Amino acid sequence: TMRNELNRLVQTVPDTQTKKAFDTEMQSFFYLFTRYLAEKAKNQELDWDRIKSPAADQIVPYDKLPVANDSKAMNKLAVLKVNGGLGTSMGMTGAKSALEVKDDMTFLDLTVRQIEHLNTSQRVDVPLILMTSFNTHDDTLRIIKKYANQQLRITTFNQSRYPRILSESLLPCPHFADDDKKNWYPPGHGDLYNALLHSGVLDQLLAEGKEYLFVSNSDNLGAVVDQNILQYMVDTGAEFLMEVTDKTKADVKGGTLIDYEGSIRLLEIAQVPSEHVEDFKAIRKFKIFNTNNLWINLKALKRIMDTEGMELEIIVNNKTTDDGSAVVQLETAAGAAIKHFKNAHGINVPRSRFLPVKSCSDLLLIKSDIYSLEHGQLVINENRLFGTTPVIKLGDHFKKIQQFQKRFKKIPKILELDHLTVTGDVYFGRNVTLRGTVIIVANEGQRIDIPDGCILENRLLSGNLTM
Ligand code: UTP
Repeated sequence: TMRNELNRLVQTVPDTQTKKAFDTEMQSFFYLFTRYLAEKAKNQELDWDRIKSPAADQIVPYDKLPVANDSKAMNKLAVLKVNGGLGTSMGMTGAKSALEVKDDMTFLDLTVRQIEHLNTSQRVDVPLILMTSFNTHDDTLRIIKKYANQQLRITTFNQSRYPRILSESLLPCPHFADDDKKNWYPPGHGDLYNALLHSGVLDQLLAEGKEYLFVSNSDNLGAVVDQNILQYMVDTGAEFLMEVTDKTKADVKGGTLIDYEGSIRLLEIAQVPSEHVEDFKAIRKFKIFNTNNLWINLKALKRIMDTEGMELEIIVNNKTTDDGSAVVQLETAAGAAIKHFKNAHGINVPRSRFLPVKSCSDLLLIKSDIYSLEHGQLVINENRLFGTTPVIKLGDHFKKIQQFQKRFKKIPKILELDHLTVTGDVYFGRNVTLRGTVIIVANEGQRIDIPDGCILENRLLSGNLTM
């Protein structure tokens, strides 16, 4: 059984200290696994009819927050980036946050700039904490090494490493504790709470007098510390705030806040019964989605961990490994914690606080001349008309980061672009300018090379074309 197999795994650790930590980790995993089996047996699904849109007072518009006028609360704040994921949808094998985004700086470098600026401009001492996983730890340490002698304090801790489960036998994939990487997974950003506790970082923060934690995704450069939200948290005593933003038709994936029998909850697409998925994606019933910018009261977190524990809805992630076996990963989402906290609610923030890089199309936009940097923050170029961003759709040939890098010798100038669609085998030369609506289609078996210095304005290119 799973229990026996886990015990056997623990016995393969020679060092006593490591063994103890590993044992704790396997126990947390086993607890999640047991819940998974119980839910599977009961065939428990959310009762769709009981799901209501959240009440008006459960989501506060950002504009309604009072303007904070002093920065005292900042001394009780720490900033945390969840940085354990790989960006698998972009074909990455290392940390996404180690990707160079602009001016030779990575996501992590830009985050460091943002916090350094906050600290110097407000004369505060906000530390930066990075949650890594076994997949991203080395990349992360390599990048932050250069900040070792700077003012800013950076703490890193590793999230859990759980065994992948073989779907058929429901037994763990790994056979010993240091078995190959491919047999393990980081169990989602909801692991944050366990990892904060078990690493000792939670106690350390509390001992330093920190009371508030601002959490966000490491690829979200829009998630800068906001004084008004922090002050609001202090003044209202809300123990947990989730920044949500208005959903557009393109935002089909993000979780949403719901009212479930009078209490506020996060609903993720993975929890939606298949017959209601279209309903979930529609923007009429669920108007907002979770940006994963979360504000957490640390004393409340400690209380929850010490008493009821942080039970979060399980997200079942079915995968096929490279050698073709079906495996299951049990994951959780950080935002699901909202139901455990008192006076928790959503804040509806402007879209500019959510600028993630989920695809190479997002990456092209952020690397382009549409944005420039100010203290590590992305600001829309002042010469861009109406302050809107172009719609970019790069096809499957640009899906993987290596392909993207190969196909753009240099990022084109797109200040006057409204819409770009690229499909097929297309390569861009240097100093290309794109304006208006540009559509480039290379058909099956054909290749299009956009030459150096080319200007394309309101053009449709297709076929086997060498210009
Ligand atoms: P996601 O997994 O939602 O999106 O992670 P992603 O980064 O686009 O990755 P792929 O393409 O789906 O694989 C959102 C944030 O949560 C972190 C990631 O590093 C990212 O900052 N994360 C995710 C963790 O810290 N741990 C995890 O186990 C998973």
